[in-house]
Amino acid sequence: MPAQLIDGKALSEHIRADVGLRAAALTAAGRQPGLAVILVGDDPASAVYVRNKVRACADHGLHSVLEQYPSSLTQDALLARVAALNADPQIHGILVQMPLPRHIDPQAVIGAIAAAKDVDGFSLHSAGQLVAGLPGLRPATPYGCMKLIESTGLAVKGKHAVVIGRSNTVGKPMALLLLQANATVTVCHSGTPDIGLHTRQADIVVAAVGRRNTVTAGMVKPGAIVIDVGINRNEEGKLCGDVDFAAVSEALGEGGWISPVPGGVGPMTITMLLVNTLQAAEEAQ
Ligand code: GUN
Repeated sequence: MPAQLIDGKALSEHIRADVGLRAAALTAAGRQPGLAVILVGDDPASAVYVRNKVRACADHGLHSVLEQYPSSLTQDALLARVAALNADPQIHGILVQMPLPRHIDPQAVIGAIAAAKDVDGFSLHSAGQLVAGLPGLRPATPYGCMKLIESTGLAVKGKHAVVIGRSNTVGKPMALLLLQANATVTVCHSGTPDIGLHTRQADIVVAAVGRRNTVTAGMVKPGAIVIDVGINRNEEGKLCGDVDFAAVSEALGEGGWISPVPGGVGPMTITMLLVNTLQAAEEAQ
């Protein structure tokens, strides 16, 4: 028997319905939540991502502004735009799409975003709040993974969670969110000699590596929860994650849970960006 499917699309729709209600309530009170998205350069994948973010705002009653600039934009000019948006009372969240052209220092730009408007949760302030276990805006992808794990109805407290990957945007914040939920957390990465040694003991596995078949059937414990953050292509060009889905699902068995790619973490990422923008708007003076 395969594992139970964690349906990111259905969960995302459920959360987005609540986002729509909260946005309408704020709008009725004269405080429509607003997101500003800045895209610098002409990376086609980034253009698709930002379009989807702006469309998601429109679909759920959030105000949004998309600012597009050529890759020749100077760092000073970008910082000036961020400063203007920091001061704009109609904007509650600011997202500067990464990657930026090479002549712009991403940390300088992220650091210039007002802490209260850092809806990506990428700033040192937001990261520090998470490390300290204090409230704040959490990075959307790991935040969405936590929601997927919670949707199984199984408690995280006391569980052994293994995160594979240590990026600043997913692996590290994921480990901290699990720790905050009272899991015992192990972080594996490219320098870990035997990742399976850890994952075979895990109740929760989050794979965020960006390499397909990183997690295979022999690496999981029956009954575990597996969350697949990877976005890769197989030989046929089909979208796939970091987990060998069919074989791992069988190995987990009917007591286990697994998120698919596509349809797992992907739909949750923009949803949690909307949630963060709403949170920022609700907390704004
Ligand atoms: N580029 C790819 N994903 C993201 C994201 O979540 N936020 C930003 N700002 N840039 C990205």
